[in-house]
Amino acid sequence: MVFGDTGNLTLHTLIPALYHRERDRHLTDDTRIIGVSRADVDDAEYRELVSAALFDVVPDDDLEVGPLNRLLGRIHHLRLDVGNAEDWHLLHSLLKDRDGEPDALRVFYLALEAGLVPEVCGWLDRTGLVTPTSRLVVEKPIGTDLATAEEINEAAGRVFAEDQVFRMDHHLGKESVQNLLVTRFANTFLEPLWNSRWVDHVQITVAEDAGVGDRVDYYDEVGALRDLVQDHLLQLLCLVAMEPPTHVTPESVRDERLKVLQALRPLVGADVDRDVVRGRYAAGEIAGRPVPSYDEDARRPGGPTETYVALRAEVENWRWAGVPFYLRTGKRMQRRESRIDVVFKAPPHAMFPGATGTAQPNRLTIRMQPDEGMQLHLTAKQPGPGGIRMRPASLDLSYTTFPERCPGPYERLLMDVIRGNPTFFLRRDELESAWRWVEPILDRWATGADHPHPYPAGSAGPDAADALLARAGHTWQELDR
Ligand code: BG6
Repeated sequence: MVFGDTGNLTLHTLIPALYHRERDRHLTDDTRIIGVSRADVDDAEYRELVSAALFDVVPDDDLEVGPLNRLLGRIHHLRLDVGNAEDWHLLHSLLKDRDGEPDALRVFYLALEAGLVPEVCGWLDRTGLVTPTSRLVVEKPIGTDLATAEEINEAAGRVFAEDQVFRMDHHLGKESVQNLLVTRFANTFLEPLWNSRWVDHVQITVAEDAGVGDRVDYYDEVGALRDLVQDHLLQLLCLVAMEPPTHVTPESVRDERLKVLQALRPLVGADVDRDVVRGRYAAGEIAGRPVPSYDEDARRPGGPTETYVALRAEVENWRWAGVPFYLRTGKRMQRRESRIDVVFKAPPHAMFPGATGTAQPNRLTIRMQPDEGMQLHLTAKQPGPGGIRMRPASLDLSYTTFPERCPGPYERLLMDVIRGNPTFFLRRDELESAWRWVEPILDRWATGADHPHPYPAGSAGPDAADALLARAGHTWQELDR
Protein backbone atom coordinates (compact mmCIF):
# COMPACT_ATOMS: atom_id res chain seq x y z
CA MET A 1 0.00 0.00 0.00
CA VAL A 2 1.49 3.31 -1.06
CA PHE A 3 0.54 6.49 0.74
CA GLY A 4 1.02 9.46 -1.56
CA ASP A 5 0.27 7.54 -4.75
CA THR A 6 0.14 10.50 -7.11
CA GLY A 7 3.47 12.00 -6.03
CA ASN A 8 6.61 11.97 -8.11
CA LEU A 9 8.29 9.34 -6.00
CA THR A 10 5.43 6.88 -6.48
CA LEU A 11 4.74 7.49 -10.15
CA HIS A 12 8.28 7.98 -11.40
CA THR A 13 10.26 5.70 -9.12
CA LEU A 14 8.20 3.12 -7.20
CA ILE A 15 5.83 2.15 -9.99
CA PRO A 16 8.61 1.72 -12.59
CA ALA A 17 10.53 -0.36 -10.03
CA LEU A 18 7.45 -2.55 -9.49
CA TYR A 19 6.97 -2.83 -13.25
CA HIS A 20 10.47 -4.31 -13.63
CA ARG A 21 9.87 -6.75 -10.80
CA GLU A 22 6.57 -7.71 -12.44
CA ARG A 23 8.32 -8.25 -15.73
CA ASP A 24 10.79 -10.60 -14.05
CA ARG A 25 7.85 -12.36 -12.37
CA HIS A 26 9.02 -11.52 -8.86
CA LEU A 27 5.57 -10.48 -7.65
CA THR A 28 3.40 -13.31 -6.39
CA ASP A 29 -0.02 -13.85 -8.01
CA ASP A 30 -1.89 -12.46 -5.02
CA THR A 31 0.13 -9.23 -4.79
CA ARG A 32 -2.03 -6.13 -4.91
CA ILE A 33 -0.89 -2.54 -5.01
CA ILE A 34 -3.21 -0.09 -3.33
CA GLY A 35 -2.44 3.57 -3.74
CA VAL A 36 -3.98 6.11 -1.42
CA SER A 37 -3.99 9.89 -1.53
CA ARG A 38 -6.48 12.73 -1.63
CA ALA A 39 -6.70 12.49 -5.44
CA ASP A 40 -10.32 12.15 -6.48
CA VAL A 41 -9.85 9.57 -9.23
CA ASP A 42 -11.22 6.06 -9.71
CA ASP A 43 -9.17 2.92 -10.42
CA ALA A 44 -9.37 3.39 -14.18
CA GLU A 45 -8.22 6.99 -14.02
CA TYR A 46 -5.43 6.13 -11.63
CA ARG A 47 -4.26 3.31 -13.93
CA GLU A 48 -4.13 5.88 -16.74
CA LEU A 49 -1.81 8.01 -14.61
CA VAL A 50 0.35 4.99 -13.91
CA SER A 51 0.60 3.99 -17.59
CA ALA A 52 1.50 7.54 -18.58
CA ALA A 53 4.26 7.59 -15.96
CA LEU A 54 5.59 4.23 -17.14
CA PHE A 55 5.65 5.38 -20.76
CA ASP A 56 7.58 8.45 -19.59
CA VAL A 57 10.16 6.70 -17.47
CA VAL A 58 10.71 3.14 -18.71
CA PRO A 59 12.80 2.87 -21.89
CA ASP A 60 10.72 1.67 -24.89
CA ASP A 61 12.78 -1.51 -25.22
CA ASP A 62 11.92 -2.51 -21.66
CA LEU A 63 8.21 -1.86 -21.86
CA GLU A 64 6.20 -4.99 -22.66
CA VAL A 65 2.44 -5.15 -22.92
CA GLY A 66 1.97 -8.40 -20.96
CA PRO A 67 3.75 -7.30 -17.76
CA LEU A 68 2.30 -3.82 -18.08
CA ASN A 69 -1.25 -5.18 -18.10
CA ARG A 70 -0.51 -7.60 -15.31
CA LEU A 71 0.80 -4.73 -13.19
CA LEU A 72 -2.14 -2.46 -13.99
CA GLY A 73 -4.50 -5.28 -13.02
CA ARG A 74 -3.02 -5.30 -9.51
CA ILE A 75 -3.36 -1.55 -8.95
CA HIS A 76 -6.20 0.17 -7.09
CA HIS A 77 -6.64 3.66 -5.81
CA LEU A 78 -8.50 4.84 -2.75
CA ARG A 79 -9.21 8.46 -1.95
CA LEU A 80 -8.02 9.00 1.60
CA ASP A 81 -7.61 12.13 3.62
CA VAL A 82 -5.21 11.25 6.44
CA GLY A 83 -7.26 13.15 9.00
CA ASN A 84 -10.62 11.62 8.06
CA ALA A 85 -11.80 8.63 10.14
CA GLU A 86 -14.38 7.56 7.56
CA ASP A 87 -11.72 7.24 4.86
CA TRP A 88 -9.70 4.97 7.14
CA HIS A 89 -12.71 2.77 7.76
CA LEU A 90 -13.25 2.50 4.03
CA LEU A 91 -9.63 1.43 3.63
CA HIS A 92 -10.11 -1.13 6.37
CA SER A 93 -13.13 -2.67 4.66
CA LEU A 94 -11.37 -2.64 1.30
CA LEU A 95 -8.52 -4.65 2.75
CA LYS A 96 -10.81 -6.96 4.68
CA ASP A 97 -12.95 -7.72 1.64
CA ARG A 98 -10.03 -8.33 -0.61
CA ASP A 99 -7.65 -10.21 1.64
CA GLY A 100 -9.38 -11.85 4.50
CA GLU A 101 -6.11 -13.30 5.81
CA PRO A 102 -5.42 -11.88 9.28
CA ASP A 103 -1.68 -12.47 8.87
CA ALA A 104 -1.44 -11.14 5.31
CA LEU A 105 1.88 -9.47 4.57
CA ARG A 106 1.12 -5.80 4.24
CA VAL A 107 3.68 -3.21 3.26
CA PHE A 108 2.75 0.36 4.16
CA TYR A 109 5.00 2.53 2.04
CA LEU A 110 4.85 6.13 3.20
CA ALA A 111 5.86 8.08 0.12
CA LEU A 112 5.11 11.12 2.21
CA GLU A 113 6.98 13.68 4.18
CA ALA A 114 8.28 11.81 7.26
CA GLY A 115 6.60 14.39 9.54
CA LEU A 116 3.31 12.61 8.75
CA VAL A 117 4.58 9.26 10.03
CA PRO A 118 3.20 9.68 13.59
CA GLU A 119 -0.28 10.54 12.36
CA VAL A 120 -0.42 7.78 9.75
CA CYS A 121 0.95 5.19 12.19
CA GLY A 122 -1.66 6.22 14.75
CA TRP A 123 -4.45 5.67 12.24
CA LEU A 124 -3.02 2.38 10.98
CA ASP A 125 -3.03 1.20 14.57
CA ARG A 126 -6.47 2.47 15.53
CA THR A 127 -8.02 1.05 12.38
CA GLY A 128 -6.49 -2.35 13.08
CA LEU A 129 -4.69 -2.50 9.76
CA VAL A 130 -1.33 -3.65 11.09
CA THR A 131 -0.82 -7.42 11.02
CA PRO A 132 2.13 -9.12 12.79
CA THR A 133 3.93 -9.46 9.46
CA SER A 134 3.23 -5.92 8.24
CA ARG A 135 6.07 -3.63 7.27
CA LEU A 136 6.43 0.12 7.33
CA VAL A 137 8.65 1.92 4.84
CA VAL A 138 9.68 5.48 5.65
CA GLU A 139 11.43 7.82 3.26
CA LYS A 140 14.23 10.20 4.11
CA PRO A 141 14.84 12.74 5.47
CA ILE A 142 13.50 11.27 8.70
CA GLY A 143 13.32 14.37 10.86
CA THR A 144 15.11 17.66 10.59
CA ASP A 145 17.29 17.09 13.65
CA LEU A 146 17.83 14.49 16.36
CA ALA A 147 14.73 15.40 18.37
CA THR A 148 12.34 15.23 15.41
CA ALA A 149 13.94 11.99 14.20
CA GLU A 150 13.43 10.51 17.68
CA GLU A 151 9.79 11.60 17.69
CA ILE A 152 9.16 9.90 14.36
CA ASN A 153 10.96 6.76 15.48
CA GLU A 154 9.02 6.71 18.75
CA ALA A 155 5.72 7.02 16.92
CA ALA A 156 6.60 4.25 14.48
CA GLY A 157 7.87 2.13 17.37
CA ARG A 158 4.56 2.35 19.23
CA VAL A 159 2.88 0.50 16.36
CA PHE A 160 5.62 -1.49 14.63
CA ALA A 161 8.49 -3.55 16.05
CA GLU A 162 11.91 -2.30 14.96
CA ASP A 163 12.33 -5.23 12.54
CA GLN A 164 9.11 -4.17 10.80
CA VAL A 165 10.41 -0.65 10.09
CA PHE A 166 12.36 -0.10 6.87
CA ARG A 167 14.07 3.31 6.69
CA MET A 168 14.90 3.90 3.08
CA ASP A 169 18.22 5.27 1.86
CA HIS A 170 18.22 4.48 -1.83
CA HIS A 171 21.99 4.84 -2.18
CA LEU A 172 22.28 1.60 -0.20
CA GLY A 173 20.38 -0.16 -2.99
CA LYS A 174 22.78 0.79 -5.76
CA GLU A 175 24.70 -2.06 -7.39
CA SER A 176 28.07 -0.40 -7.06
CA VAL A 177 27.44 0.45 -3.41
CA GLN A 178 26.50 -3.11 -2.53
CA ASN A 179 29.41 -4.30 -4.62
CA LEU A 180 31.71 -2.35 -2.32
CA LEU A 181 31.03 -4.92 0.39
CA VAL A 182 31.71 -7.77 -2.01
CA THR A 183 34.87 -6.14 -3.35
CA ARG A 184 36.18 -5.58 0.16
CA PHE A 185 35.17 -8.82 1.78
CA ALA A 186 35.01 -11.46 -0.95
CA ASN A 187 38.55 -10.70 -2.15
CA THR A 188 41.81 -10.80 -0.28
CA PHE A 189 44.00 -8.24 -1.98
CA LEU A 190 42.37 -5.05 -0.68
CA GLU A 191 41.69 -5.67 2.97
CA PRO A 192 45.36 -5.71 4.12
CA LEU A 193 45.77 -2.25 2.54
CA TRP A 194 42.46 -0.85 3.75
CA ASN A 195 43.72 1.13 6.74
CA SER A 196 45.67 4.19 7.84
CA ARG A 197 48.98 2.54 7.06
CA TRP A 198 48.30 2.47 3.32
CA VAL A 199 45.35 4.76 2.70
CA ASP A 200 46.21 8.44 2.47
CA HIS A 201 42.68 9.78 2.33
CA VAL A 202 39.19 9.02 1.02
CA GLN A 203 36.93 11.26 -1.06
CA ILE A 204 33.19 10.70 -1.38
CA THR A 205 31.40 12.80 -3.97
CA VAL A 206 27.75 13.08 -4.92
CA ALA A 207 27.67 15.87 -7.50
CA GLU A 208 24.59 16.84 -9.46
CA ASP A 209 24.20 19.18 -12.39
CA ALA A 210 20.47 19.50 -11.73
CA GLY A 211 19.12 22.25 -9.52
CA VAL A 212 16.26 21.91 -7.09
CA GLY A 213 13.56 22.00 -9.78
CA ASP A 214 10.02 21.76 -8.47
CA ARG A 215 11.21 20.56 -5.04
CA VAL A 216 12.19 24.05 -4.02
CA ASP A 217 9.70 24.22 -1.12
CA TYR A 218 11.13 21.05 0.36
CA TYR A 219 14.74 21.87 -0.40
CA ASP A 220 14.68 25.40 0.89
CA GLU A 221 13.72 24.10 4.33
CA VAL A 222 16.21 21.28 4.30
CA GLY A 223 19.45 22.16 2.46
CA ALA A 224 22.24 19.88 1.28
CA LEU A 225 23.50 18.79 4.72
CA ARG A 226 20.18 17.26 5.72
CA ASP A 227 19.18 16.19 2.23
CA LEU A 228 22.31 14.29 1.27
CA VAL A 229 25.11 14.34 3.85
CA GLN A 230 23.15 13.18 6.89
CA ASP A 231 21.96 10.10 5.04
CA HIS A 232 23.53 9.09 1.73
CA LEU A 233 27.07 10.36 2.21
CA LEU A 234 27.41 9.14 5.77
CA GLN A 235 26.11 5.73 4.75
CA LEU A 236 28.68 5.53 1.97
CA LEU A 237 31.37 6.48 4.46
CA CYS A 238 30.16 3.67 6.74
CA LEU A 239 30.46 1.07 3.99
CA VAL A 240 33.99 2.20 3.16
CA ALA A 241 35.14 2.32 6.77
CA MET A 242 33.26 -0.53 8.49
CA GLU A 243 34.94 -3.62 9.87
CA PRO A 244 34.14 -6.98 8.28
CA PRO A 245 31.09 -8.48 9.95
CA THR A 246 31.33 -12.17 10.78
CA HIS A 247 28.51 -12.91 8.34
CA VAL A 248 26.42 -10.72 6.11
CA THR A 249 23.33 -10.82 8.27
CA PRO A 250 21.18 -7.71 8.68
CA GLU A 251 22.10 -7.03 12.28
CA SER A 252 25.82 -7.71 11.95
CA VAL A 253 26.13 -5.38 8.96
CA ARG A 254 24.07 -2.71 10.68
CA ASP A 255 26.10 -3.09 13.88
CA GLU A 256 29.30 -2.44 11.95
CA ARG A 257 27.88 0.59 10.14
CA LEU A 258 26.70 1.95 13.48
CA LYS A 259 30.18 1.60 15.02
CA VAL A 260 31.59 3.82 12.27
CA LEU A 261 29.02 6.54 12.96
CA GLN A 262 29.83 6.32 16.65
CA ALA A 263 33.55 6.67 15.92
CA LEU A 264 33.21 9.88 13.90
CA ARG A 265 35.10 12.74 15.51
CA PRO A 266 32.46 15.28 16.51
CA LEU A 267 32.58 18.59 14.65
CA VAL A 268 31.53 21.20 17.14
CA GLY A 269 31.76 25.01 17.31
CA ALA A 270 34.94 26.32 15.67
CA ASP A 271 35.64 22.83 14.18
CA VAL A 272 32.69 23.47 11.93
CA ASP A 273 34.16 26.74 10.62
CA ARG A 274 37.42 24.94 9.96
CA ASP A 275 36.28 21.57 8.59
CA VAL A 276 32.92 22.22 6.92
CA VAL A 277 32.30 24.42 3.88
CA ARG A 278 28.81 25.29 2.76
CA GLY A 279 28.04 26.87 -0.57
CA ARG A 280 25.19 28.10 -2.67
CA TYR A 281 25.15 28.26 -6.45
CA ALA A 282 25.20 31.60 -8.20
CA ALA A 283 24.21 32.06 -11.84
CA GLY A 284 26.43 30.22 -14.30
CA GLU A 285 26.41 27.92 -17.25
CA ILE A 286 25.96 24.16 -17.60
CA ALA A 287 26.54 22.39 -20.90
CA GLY A 288 26.54 25.72 -22.72
CA ARG A 289 23.18 26.81 -21.25
CA PRO A 290 22.79 29.73 -18.82
CA VAL A 291 21.54 28.70 -15.39
CA PRO A 292 19.96 31.04 -12.82
CA SER A 293 21.23 31.38 -9.28
CA TYR A 294 19.71 29.53 -6.32
CA ASP A 295 18.31 32.84 -5.10
CA GLU A 296 16.28 33.06 -8.29
CA ASP A 297 15.08 29.46 -7.80
CA ALA A 298 14.45 29.78 -4.07
CA ARG A 299 11.28 30.37 -2.17
CA ARG A 300 13.13 32.71 0.19
CA PRO A 301 15.79 34.50 -1.85
CA GLY A 302 18.79 35.40 0.26
CA GLY A 303 17.90 32.74 2.88
CA PRO A 304 20.54 30.57 4.54
CA THR A 305 19.95 27.36 2.55
CA GLU A 306 23.12 25.63 1.35
CA THR A 307 23.17 23.76 -1.96
CA TYR A 308 26.71 22.49 -1.46
CA VAL A 309 28.60 20.97 1.44
CA ALA A 310 32.19 19.79 1.66
CA LEU A 311 33.62 18.51 4.90
CA ARG A 312 36.50 16.68 6.43
CA ALA A 313 35.53 13.81 8.71
CA GLU A 314 37.70 11.46 10.73
CA VAL A 315 36.90 7.99 11.97
CA GLU A 316 38.57 7.72 15.34
CA ASN A 317 39.44 4.06 15.58
CA TRP A 318 42.46 1.81 15.23
CA ARG A 319 42.04 1.24 11.51
CA TRP A 320 41.43 4.81 10.38
CA ALA A 321 43.10 7.15 12.90
CA GLY A 322 44.42 10.23 11.09
CA VAL A 323 42.93 9.42 7.65
CA PRO A 324 40.79 12.28 6.33
CA PHE A 325 37.44 11.33 4.80
CA TYR A 326 36.42 14.20 2.56
CA LEU A 327 32.73 14.34 1.70
CA ARG A 328 31.21 16.71 -0.83
CA THR A 329 27.87 17.13 -2.49
CA GLY A 330 26.31 19.92 -4.48
CA LYS A 331 23.54 20.89 -6.82
CA ARG A 332 24.28 22.62 -10.13
CA MET A 333 27.82 21.38 -10.33
CA GLN A 334 29.57 20.80 -13.62
CA ARG A 335 28.39 17.24 -13.99
CA ARG A 336 26.25 14.53 -12.44
CA GLU A 337 28.69 12.15 -10.89
CA SER A 338 28.78 10.06 -7.72
CA ARG A 339 31.94 8.27 -6.75
CA ILE A 340 34.19 7.15 -3.96
CA ASP A 341 37.96 7.58 -4.35
CA VAL A 342 40.23 5.75 -1.98
CA VAL A 343 43.65 7.33 -2.47
CA PHE A 344 46.61 5.24 -1.34
CA LYS A 345 49.92 6.52 -0.02
CA ALA A 346 52.94 6.96 -2.26
CA PRO A 347 55.43 4.05 -2.33
CA PRO A 348 57.78 4.24 0.66
CA HIS A 349 60.88 4.39 -1.51
CA ALA A 350 61.50 5.88 -4.99
CA MET A 351 63.47 3.13 -6.71
CA PHE A 352 63.40 4.41 -10.28
CA PRO A 353 65.64 7.45 -9.84
CA GLY A 354 66.22 8.09 -13.54
CA ALA A 355 62.59 7.53 -14.48
CA THR A 356 60.67 10.18 -16.37
CA GLY A 357 56.95 10.66 -17.00
CA THR A 358 54.14 10.81 -14.48
CA ALA A 359 53.70 8.52 -11.52
CA GLN A 360 50.37 8.68 -9.72
CA PRO A 361 49.35 7.44 -6.31
CA ASN A 362 47.25 4.29 -6.48
CA ARG A 363 43.59 5.06 -6.26
CA LEU A 364 40.50 2.90 -6.25
CA THR A 365 37.49 4.66 -7.72
CA ILE A 366 34.04 3.25 -7.18
CA ARG A 367 31.69 4.91 -9.64
CA MET A 368 28.02 4.97 -8.74
CA GLN A 369 26.99 7.42 -11.40
CA PRO A 370 26.73 7.91 -14.34
CA ASP A 371 28.20 4.53 -15.41
CA GLU A 372 28.51 2.14 -12.50
CA GLY A 373 31.87 0.44 -12.16
CA MET A 374 35.26 0.48 -10.56
CA GLN A 375 38.73 1.59 -11.59
CA LEU A 376 42.08 0.86 -10.02
CA HIS A 377 44.54 3.57 -10.98
CA LEU A 378 48.17 2.54 -11.19
CA THR A 379 51.48 3.73 -12.48
CA ALA A 380 52.77 1.63 -15.40
CA LYS A 381 55.85 1.58 -17.54
CA GLN A 382 55.31 3.21 -20.87
CA PRO A 383 56.27 0.61 -23.49
CA GLY A 384 59.52 1.38 -25.28
CA PRO A 385 63.26 0.77 -25.27
CA GLY A 386 65.81 2.70 -23.26
CA GLY A 387 65.19 4.22 -19.84
CA ILE A 388 62.07 3.89 -17.75
CA ARG A 389 59.22 6.22 -18.57
CA MET A 390 56.18 6.08 -16.34
CA ARG A 391 52.58 6.75 -17.17
CA PRO A 392 49.22 6.51 -15.45
CA ALA A 393 47.16 3.45 -16.33
CA SER A 394 44.02 1.85 -14.94
CA LEU A 395 42.24 -1.46 -14.54
CA ASP A 396 38.66 -0.84 -15.38
CA LEU A 397 35.50 -2.73 -14.46
CA SER A 398 32.38 -1.36 -16.05
CA TYR A 399 29.04 -2.88 -15.16
CA THR A 400 28.15 -2.80 -18.84
CA THR A 401 30.46 -5.79 -19.25
CA PHE A 402 28.10 -7.92 -17.13
CA PRO A 403 25.39 -9.55 -19.23
CA GLU A 404 22.71 -8.87 -16.63
CA ARG A 405 20.70 -5.69 -16.53
CA CYS A 406 21.56 -3.49 -13.51
CA PRO A 407 18.32 -3.05 -11.59
CA GLY A 408 17.68 0.37 -10.09
CA PRO A 409 18.06 0.75 -6.31
CA TYR A 410 14.32 0.86 -5.61
CA GLU A 411 13.75 -2.44 -7.41
CA ARG A 412 16.15 -4.18 -5.11
CA LEU A 413 15.10 -2.41 -1.94
CA LEU A 414 11.38 -2.96 -2.55
CA MET A 415 12.00 -6.68 -2.92
CA ASP A 416 14.09 -6.59 0.28
CA VAL A 417 11.10 -5.08 2.08
CA ILE A 418 8.77 -7.75 0.72
CA ARG A 419 11.22 -10.50 1.68
CA GLY A 420 11.83 -8.92 5.07
CA ASN A 421 15.56 -8.27 4.66
CA PRO A 422 16.54 -4.98 6.37
CA THR A 423 20.33 -5.17 5.77
CA PHE A 424 20.35 -2.14 3.48
CA PHE A 425 17.93 -0.07 5.53
CA LEU A 426 18.82 2.14 8.48
CA ARG A 427 18.15 0.87 11.93
CA ARG A 428 16.86 3.37 14.44
CA ASP A 429 20.19 3.71 16.26
CA GLU A 430 22.04 4.31 12.98
CA LEU A 431 19.69 7.07 11.97
CA GLU A 432 19.88 8.74 15.36
CA SER A 433 23.69 8.49 15.47
CA ALA A 434 23.89 10.18 12.08
CA TRP A 435 21.72 13.04 13.36
CA ARG A 436 23.76 13.25 16.54
CA TRP A 437 26.86 13.88 14.44
CA VAL A 438 25.24 16.32 12.01
CA GLU A 439 23.33 18.38 14.56
CA PRO A 440 26.27 20.42 15.95
CA ILE A 441 27.04 21.52 12.39
CA LEU A 442 23.48 22.77 11.99
CA ASP A 443 23.71 24.44 15.41
CA ARG A 444 26.88 26.25 14.45
CA TRP A 445 25.38 27.44 11.19
CA ALA A 446 22.30 28.63 13.04
CA THR A 447 24.47 31.09 14.98
CA GLY A 448 25.11 32.81 11.64
CA ALA A 449 28.88 32.60 12.21
CA ASP A 450 29.38 31.68 8.60
CA HIS A 451 27.41 32.05 5.36
CA PRO A 452 27.23 29.83 2.30
CA HIS A 453 30.05 30.58 -0.13
CA PRO A 454 28.82 31.35 -3.63
CA TYR A 455 29.97 29.14 -6.51
CA PRO A 456 29.07 29.56 -10.15
CA ALA A 457 26.56 26.99 -11.44
CA GLY A 458 28.51 24.56 -13.62
CA SER A 459 31.67 24.76 -11.51
CA ALA A 460 33.26 22.25 -9.12
CA GLY A 461 32.06 24.14 -6.03
CA PRO A 462 33.37 27.05 -3.96
CA ASP A 463 37.10 27.84 -3.67
CA ALA A 464 36.85 27.36 0.09
CA ALA A 465 36.29 23.64 -0.55
CA ASP A 466 39.62 23.46 -2.40
CA ALA A 467 41.28 25.26 0.48
CA LEU A 468 39.86 22.66 2.90
CA LEU A 469 41.86 19.94 1.15
CA ALA A 470 44.88 22.09 0.34
CA ARG A 471 45.51 22.40 4.08
CA ALA A 472 46.61 18.76 4.07
CA GLY A 473 48.24 18.93 0.63
CA HIS A 474 45.24 17.21 -1.03
CA THR A 475 43.13 18.13 -4.04
CA TRP A 476 39.66 17.00 -5.09
CA GLN A 477 39.54 14.45 -7.87
CA GLU A 478 38.33 16.02 -11.06
CA LEU A 479 34.77 15.18 -11.88
CA ASP A 480 35.15 13.56 -15.25
CA ARG A 481 37.40 10.62 -14.80
C1 BG6 B 1 17.70 12.28 -2.94
C2 BG6 B 1 17.80 13.75 -2.64
O1 BG6 B 1 17.65 11.54 -1.75
O2 BG6 B 1 18.83 11.88 -3.70
C3 BG6 B 1 17.89 14.54 -3.93
O3 BG6 B 1 16.66 14.17 -1.90
C4 BG6 B 1 19.02 14.03 -4.79
O4 BG6 B 1 18.07 15.93 -3.67
C5 BG6 B 1 18.93 12.52 -4.95
O5 BG6 B 1 18.91 14.66 -6.05
C6 BG6 B 1 20.18 11.98 -5.63
O6 BG6 B 1 19.99 10.61 -5.88
P1 BG6 B 1 20.79 9.90 -7.05
O7 BG6 B 1 20.38 8.48 -7.00
O8 BG6 B 1 20.41 10.60 -8.31
O9 BG6 B 1 22.24 10.12 -6.71
